[in-house]
Amino acid sequence: MGKVVLGVSVGVAVAALVVGRRVKSRKKWNRVVGVLKELEESCETTVGRLRQVVDAMAVEMHAGLASEGGSKLKMLLTFVDNLPSGSEKGIFYALDLGGTNFRVLRVELGGQRSDLDPDVEQQPIPEQLMTGRSEDLFDFIASSLYRFVEKGNDSVQSPVTKELGFTFSFPVKQTSVSSGVLIKWTKAFAINDMVGKEVAGALQQALTRKGLNMRVAVLQVNDTVGTIALGRYHDEDTVAAVIIGTGTNACYWERTDAIIKCQGLVTTSGSMVVNMEWGNFWSSHLPRTSYDIELDAESPNPNDQGFEKMISGMYLGDIVRRVILRMSEESDIFGPVSFRLYMPFALRTPVMAAMHEDDSPELMEVARILKDVLDIPDIPLKARKLVVKICDVVTRRAARLAAAGIVGILKKIGRDGSGGITGGRSRSDVKMRRTAVAVEGSLYTQYTMFREYLHEALNEILGEDIARHVVINVTEDGSGTGASLLAASHSSSGTVDNIQLV
Ligand code: BGC
Repeated sequence: MGKVVLGVSVGVAVAALVVGRRVKSRKKWNRVVGVLKELEESCETTVGRLRQVVDAMAVEMHAGLASEGGSKLKMLLTFVDNLPSGSEKGIFYALDLGGTNFRVLRVELGGQRSDLDPDVEQQPIPEQLMTGRSEDLFDFIASSLYRFVEKGNDSVQSPVTKELGFTFSFPVKQTSVSSGVLIKWTKAFAINDMVGKEVAGALQQALTRKGLNMRVAVLQVNDTVGTIALGRYHDEDTVAAVIIGTGTNACYWERTDAIIKCQGLVTTSGSMVVNMEWGNFWSSHLPRTSYDIELDAESPNPNDQGFEKMISGMYLGDIVRRVILRMSEESDIFGPVSFRLYMPFALRTPVMAAMHEDDSPELMEVARILKDVLDIPDIPLKARKLVVKICDVVTRRAARLAAAGIVGILKKIGRDGSGGITGGRSRSDVKMRRTAVAVEGSLYTQYTMFREYLHEALNEILGEDIARHVVINVTEDGSGTGASLLAASHSSSGTVDNIQLV
């Protein structure tokens, strides 16, 4: 009898232990689900909230155009006052200098929006030239250009001046469409004698020294400007360009009389491309989480580029890493906390996108990435599903905010169907013109979910009737091909420097 009693009590104890474990593990699971819920709530982008972001973007654009420093949006003048029409003819060149490599391009235009099939050559810049004398750097570049021209079927000796678009991705104060002063070097460059000097002039002198009859027709200091040029070349209704890659930014075609901070600005077209530097946009309507706050505080540029930190490829993976880390600390669902989860940028956005888009039933790609990249092996399927959900929440917010940014631009220029930010007309009164936006960058072109969420949000914000007049065109290589097109539209045979300050 006693034995039986003992057996029963042992059985009860084991059962209690099992139940206890289950309760404990359910509690942990609930905690993790709680973290996800909190994330979802703080990333909420209802259409109402997105419309507030749209309005804030349009208002900030006005403020940035009204006075220097009037907004976190810099709204930089580019002096690009005409964009390619597609009727350009001839051979045009571009030089793209911005990293450790530089590229030279040649494009032959046949009029009638002919297909673009540029010849491109890329070369590394010898390390000693990045920190030496500016003359040596530009002589080296001029020699490469000379050889490039020689190799093509465009004669070096030709008396016809060749036109060059020069993309120079460093902080520059632009002074005209073809000139600008270097503020400082970034990346691996440190050529002291160049700081404070005019950049296009330095290249022009080197070209002359080399005996190359080539004119720097355009100095392009921002990749978005090349993107809008490329967009306009292919589609005359292009009014704006957006880049969503490692970083994010937008530029658009603005009337000069709206650029109040530059009184008396007169261009032949009556318009100019404005580089918004929208990565720095900020509004209290942006849905910010504790992860964004931590990411910003630990970044090398706190309080800067707030919009970019929620949208661009540089950061999305890292937001996801931070959420997984929080979950891992709150429960053992991911096993012992992996040290890799503490490493900033251990999870890159393309890898995160691969997890998000894993459509295998067992989420094997998610399992592989968690193991190989974050050192989190063998987690149950339900935890892998959770990871996919985190990626989804973070990417959906990013894409929807980017869409709100685009509509903000459309609103500013009266192309959102509402009649502008001061207009009181109802949507149905407005005859909406076809409007195209050129988009470039890996997040949009290579991340299907991101692209779909962005389109979905455009439809929601604008309403389908208006949205069907808005076309998104993908462009490729604005900083190269776009620069050569700008050289064409600003070539001396066409309109040159028509900008006056009266
Ligand atoms: C830079 C912009 C650039 C964008 C896209 C941002 O981080 O501030 O100037 O246009 O990235 O490349």
